[in-house]
Amino acid sequence: MKIVIAADHAGYALKTIVVDHLKSIGVDVIDLGTNDSSTSVDYPDYAKKVAREIMGHTDMLGILICGTGVGMSITANKFRGIRAASVSDTFSARMSRMHNDSNILCFGGRVVGGGLAIDIVDAWLNAEFEGGRHANRLKKIKEGEE
Ligand code: RB5
Repeated sequence: MKIVIAADHAGYALKTIVVDHLKSIGVDVIDLGTNDSSTSVDYPDYAKKVAREIMGHTDMLGILICGTGVGMSITANKFRGIRAASVSDTFSARMSRMHNDSNILCFGGRVVGGGLAIDIVDAWLNAEFEGGRHANRLKKIKEGEE
């Protein structure tokens, strides 16, 4: 499983913590920037990069970090096949995989600290989509793309 990650300036510091963690547990990480917190950038540019990278790839997941996670998720969810979940707790992160088959995890560098972010990422990565009735609900979500 490859993880494609990006952040804006507000999420940069947390991105470095998350990238270090992912590498330490042996995850293959593609980091699409941004690369500092002092230059203001536009979060949609980064959400688009990650969404385009993982569209159609079932062996890839994405992580997007801005100030709140909200702008990143709104942008990523405009792309076909993307199910981006903006969360700030481990339960929602886990359920977003089990019930919603989220393929992009979003959170806020101004909302969660490094320790919680790592727990959120681990909860998300260790959960699996349950299928069944949830697959039928995802089909109904997909109808909105047509
Ligand atoms: C940047 O100031 C901020 O608006 C952005 O990081 C994000 O929180 C948007 O949703």
